[in-house]
Amino acid sequence: MSESSLFSPVYLGDQHLENRIALPPLTRSRANPDGTATALMREYYAQRSGAGLVIAEGTVVSPQASAYANVPGLFNKEQVMAWRPVVEAAKRDGNAVYCQLWHVGRQSHSSVQPDGQPPFGPSAIPIKGFTYRSTDGRIPYETPRELTQDGIHEIVQAFGSAAANARDAGFDGVELHAANGYLIEQFLDDGINQRTDEYGGSLENRLRFLFEVLNAVIKHIPANRVGIRFSPSSDWMDAIDSDKRTLFSTVIQRLNSYSLAYLHLVEPGISGATNSSQAPDATPTKELASLFNGTVIATGGHTKESAEELISSGVVDLVGFGRKFIANPDLPERFRQNAPLAELAPHGLYSGGEHGYTDYPALDSCPS
Ligand SMILES: Cc1cc2nc3c(=O)[nH]c(=O)nc-3n(C[C@H](O)[C@H](O)[C@H](O)COP(=O)(O)O)c2cc1C
Repeated sequence: MSESSLFSPVYLGDQHLENRIALPPLTRSRANPDGTATALMREYYAQRSGAGLVIAEGTVVSPQASAYANVPGLFNKEQVMAWRPVVEAAKRDGNAVYCQLWHVGRQSHSSVQPDGQPPFGPSAIPIKGFTYRSTDGRIPYETPRELTQDGIHEIVQAFGSAAANARDAGFDGVELHAANGYLIEQFLDDGINQRTDEYGGSLENRLRFLFEVLNAVIKHIPANRVGIRFSPSSDWMDAIDSDKRTLFSTVIQRLNSYSLAYLHLVEPGISGATNSSQAPDATPTKELASLFNGTVIATGGHTKESAEELISSGVVDLVGFGRKFIANPDLPERFRQNAPLAELAPHGLYSGGEHGYTDYPALDSCPS
């Protein structure tokens, strides 16, 4: 028996998990062009079903919500049907499978918008200092269209419908993607949201979109099956706010009245999908986690040892492993056996069929 705190059981909402290892959401761009999940995704998630909590990759709530080809969606019946066998494969006794609901907002591009126009954001402020990964290479981000209030209401409804679809596809719950400078965070940050109506200006107003989305989602899924993800110390994709500490402390405390399944925090020092130098004004996970009256997950740069330390010291309840889980489909088993870990290959992260996706070997198939 392992003494590791990672292998002590835990409740997530009303679900009993056998371990505290999470597969965080990881975009891998292996869906069909119409956003339906594939047999290859089924194999990938089955390989990683040893995680106590599997959070499926960012899944768009509408055609407008997407930035890239081959990301899955949950806005029509075909997508629901296609997810079902994938979700089933990701489930084994004693684990939970959630789906991350995603709208990229201004991180999209006219070349992938259904009407061929620039993407939508809270305000007509483009992303500076980053470039869009188009099929023809890196290009500057466009100035987004400022969302009308009708446009905002449509997106709120789209999140609600996607949550209902996630439930119908067999997911145990959903995670709202409010991290990494995507649409929900774009409304939160005062460097991005410069609206003068009730969705912008004061902190109260900037929180409105998030809580409208949350309220729409919990009409379809109980709050104890809904998680939310923030990256409170990251300015990736020009996600600038004048006071992130106050912003995220306030929003986290406000969430306490919902009895959500979990709060998922991306660690300081992680910038989008990679490591970065930690900002001097980063808010420690410990500080924010202590404000939340429920289950907390931390992800970003963790090893088995750092995760055990974080859990046994009571800072968080589960730890996510992203890049390690990509390269080690049986990561929990490797942790249990203290077996060596495979390294992440430089290819296949965001495209490439099975190569760099489902062809990382499990321990029992490695040559001894
Ligand atoms: C290939 C790749 C795709 C990612 N896709 C998503 C995503 O869809 N949603 C999200 O919130 N984070 C995404 N991330 C960020 C990871 O969830 C995680 O926060 C990050 O990799 C840091 O954790 P790690 O150090 O354990 O890898 C992605 C990261 C990688 C490497």
